[in-house]
Amino acid sequence: AVTRTPLIAGNWKMNLDHLQAVAFVQKLHWTLKDAKHDDDSVEVAVFPPFTDLRTVQTLLDADKIPFALGAQDVSAHDAGAYTGEISGAFLAKLDNRYVIIGHSERRQYHAETDEVVAAKVQAALRHGLAPVICVGETSEDLEKYGASAVPVGQLEVALEGVTADADIVVAYEPVWAIGSGQAATPEQAQDVCAKLRAVVAERLGEDAAARTRVLYGGSVKAANIASFMREPDVDGALVGGASLVVDEFAAIIRYQK
Ligand code: G3P
Repeated sequence: AVTRTPLIAGNWKMNLDHLQAVAFVQKLHWTLKDAKHDDDSVEVAVFPPFTDLRTVQTLLDADKIPFALGAQDVSAHDAGAYTGEISGAFLAKLDNRYVIIGHSERRQYHAETDEVVAAKVQAALRHGLAPVICVGETSEDLEKYGASAVPVGQLEVALEGVTADADIVVAYEPVWAIGSGQAATPEQAQDVCAKLRAVVAERLGEDAAARTRVLYGGSVKAANIASFMREPDVDGALVGGASLVVDEFAAIIRYQK
């Protein structure tokens, strides 16, 4: 059986400027060190705003801090007349390993369609970045179609043109659970994450499905992380609010203790 390294990812959203980012990352690193956190058992990734990335990259490198770096979005285009956009090539140059694509806040406030998300997934892969593909249903979707239909449909479109060897991460984030304090139950998360893994299997094959991390996101905190991580198809978490509090995020990373 393939063992998937759990991934605990902190999506800072539009929080922490580059100076606050330095203090935060250093403090998180020391907190985990003091707790003798085993660096290999869980992969930790941080997703700061674009303007922090160069600073955080420099800090991770200089202090040998074993966190992966990711951005919160990427342009579907590689270069050119796209004012305000950030290319995957630039992100790759800053040692980003990941990029979040299709977060519900981008879909909602920036009118990102499934097709735009698919184009951004392709852009990420062209530049060697692993897309963290976010999918999830709103409360209206949940009422109308149940939990899994919308996220499954979103993932099917996002995976169009993706090849079996691609390095991708899937994040199930029910929109109603984001920032609401009302997380999905572990059973709900498991059910949808298993269905999303089945989409990966159907589109990219069984090997890819066994290898791909499927994360849960939405009001994850230290008090509920272990219950999600016990589920067989939940391979980690995409954490918003709780990723901005050092002790809370450190406790989430150390969920097995
Ligand atoms: O991407 C993570 C996020 O949308 C979840 O946010 O604050 O509910 O953990 P939060």
